[in-house]
Amino acid sequence: MKRILTGLQPSGELTIGNLIGGIKQMVKYQNEYESFMFVPDLHTITIPQDPETLKKRIKSIVALYLACGIDPNKNTIYIQSENLYHANLSWILECNTYMGEASRMTQFKDKSQKVKNVSVGLFTYPILMAADILLYDADYVPVGIDQKQHVELARDIAIRFNNKYGKTFTIPEPLIPQVGAKIMKLQDPTKKMSKSDENIKNSIFILDTEEDIRKKIMSAVTDSENKIYYDPENKPGIANLLTIYSAFANLSIEEVASKFKEANYGTLKKEVADVVVSNILDIQKKYQEYLNSGIVDQILDEGNKKVNQIAKEKYEEVLRKVGLGRI
Ligand code: AMP
Ligand code: TRP
Repeated sequence: MKRILTGLQPSGELTIGNLIGGIKQMVKYQNEYESFMFVPDLHTITIPQDPETLKKRIKSIVALYLACGIDPNKNTIYIQSENLYHANLSWILECNTYMGEASRMTQFKDKSQKVKNVSVGLFTYPILMAADILLYDADYVPVGIDQKQHVELARDIAIRFNNKYGKTFTIPEPLIPQVGAKIMKLQDPTKKMSKSDENIKNSIFILDTEEDIRKKIMSAVTDSENKIYYDPENKPGIANLLTIYSAFANLSIEEVASKFKEANYGTLKKEVADVVVSNILDIQKKYQEYLNSGIVDQILDEGNKKVNQIAKEKYEEVLRKVGLGRI
């Protein structure tokens, strides 16, 4: 069975972008593939984090995975920092990555302009991500479009390593969702909705109240044409609302565009709010149940045990091939 692997950073409250671009894909794939779903907490500290908040978010995100339909019997769920092989392999991969290729990462270029003191970790972040993927011989890596370049770097590193040291790593492929590849900011639909936005009116968080969700959607920026059709370039606000509806109602963009073609913007927004609220309230109820049950720790302990064994074998193979240590 092919193996699939992904992770969502616990760097902020998750948005519906994360749900649609990340978690929902995994829920779909968990029946077809051997699935690994982890919390990349080491990636999170590439940008300053408050320790208390970070700690809370790690378990909270696992409870959210479960609430969103990630089945612990079909997925191996674990925390990156609890497995020491990730950072160790990352170092070896760093020594097999060129400055030129790492410097081409567009996410680094964006993020490094937004923070005052850019850490070295922010620059090497994609190589740690390559280690996350290559340690487990993942065949597929479901990610949003913004992470595609990082998975491609992981491929390049794996190919280079295999050529140099002999076949060691599976070459991973990114899996980009068809619908809702990119959910945009509600107040500025030309930019990606992000969990770290300063303007909370831009994002719908999975743990938002019903009232906030409705308010945010009703005040989403659209255009003045008052005609509904799907045209992301000229009507980004409307296209974004149609995309959100399509993802939550499990309909194609064409079906949604045709459903609303005679409607006005007010009606569209109200219906988008309804479908988002009904999905999100259900998730929130399950989230509280998981968080209060103690099952999260149990799942993480089991996951950790399993992945440590897999990672240890791969890491020792790498040490042998590179000529490190005494193995
Ligand atoms: P991030 O929030 O950047 O850590 O992203 C975590 C995962 O969610 C990745 O797979 C992203 O590509 C996906 N994701 C984040 N924001 C969005 C968005 N606005 N639209 C679609 N996918 C997203
Ligand atoms: N960098 C990813 C993000 O911010 C999270 C991540 C870290 C990841 N390691 C990964 C995703 C490995 C897939 C596979 O979204």
